[in-house]
Amino acid sequence: MSIQVVHTIAELREASVRLLEELEEEVLPAAKRSFGLVPTMGALHEGHASLARAAVVANQVVAASIFVNPLQFGDPADLERYPRTLDADVALLEEVGVALVFAPSVAEMYPAGDPLIRLSSGALGGRLEGASRPGHFDGALTVVAKLLHVAQPVIHSGYRAYFGQKDAQQLALVRRMVADLNFPVEIVGVPTVRDADGLALSSRNRFLSVAEREAALVLSGALRLLSERAARSEPLDLESAVALIRSEPLVELDYLEVLDPETFSPRAENCAETPFTGQALAVVAARVGPVRLIDNMELLAGPGLPDGSDVWQCR
Ligand code: PAF
Repeated sequence: MSIQVVHTIAELREASVRLLEELEEEVLPAAKRSFGLVPTMGALHEGHASLARAAVVANQVVAASIFVNPLQFGDPADLERYPRTLDADVALLEEVGVALVFAPSVAEMYPAGDPLIRLSSGALGGRLEGASRPGHFDGALTVVAKLLHVAQPVIHSGYRAYFGQKDAQQLALVRRMVADLNFPVEIVGVPTVRDADGLALSSRNRFLSVAEREAALVLSGALRLLSERAARSEPLDLESAVALIRSEPLVELDYLEVLDPETFSPRAENCAETPFTGQALAVVAARVGPVRLIDNMELLAGPGLPDGSDVWQCR
């Protein structure tokens, strides 16, 4: 069956329920069926394809949303130039096996203009990415909350939504929102997809020149350095990873931090001396030419080394 593209909330609700109901009762009883949602802003690449594939293998019906959400852009020029490639996006989603695309207009999502009532991403939403993009996470959570509500099929079935681990802070905030506000949906984080040389895929990479793209590799390089040291239970020595990034003149580092993966509180400034144990998350953001890039990597002490389930702390 070919993919269906809908533009209104009413069409989305009708189509998702119909697709779930069409499944044969003998093959899978209604109570065991599940629906997967993949929220995106379009300009899809292999990273999004992997989100969609994860959804398709785990759910009988999968919908992807494509909506460039004005609320999460502080800079109108950034919103204006965000790539819009609906036809190519639909083709990619169809190939992966997504049944339904929800591509609403701004007026469909915000019929009364900017919404009066919005979600607040709290103290975590003001740090790291939020510090340089004020209001970004409030806007992202507000649209994710709306999408989770409008896409939820109103029949009894499982409900999951898929988010990339590349936007680690967004994923942590969505998980908190869903837990704090009791959304009846399971949030699934899908690993970052990288080019062969390590650069994390991003819709913004297309704006990099050849030299800038090459320079940007220092970000994943620095994260890899930290993750290798962590795996060997060596001290992380964050300063040397910062120095590596700063040695690249085309890259303007915003932050490189090691965080508690759940709360995102910083674990350490440097830790040149303390052997790494347990687990943490290294996050980086930098400006490279015209774009701001972010990336992150899990830090995990290797098996057989001083481990413990505790989150790592610099003592
Ligand atoms: O990660 C994104 O592409 C967006 O922030 C999201 C989750 C689709 C909300 O607009």
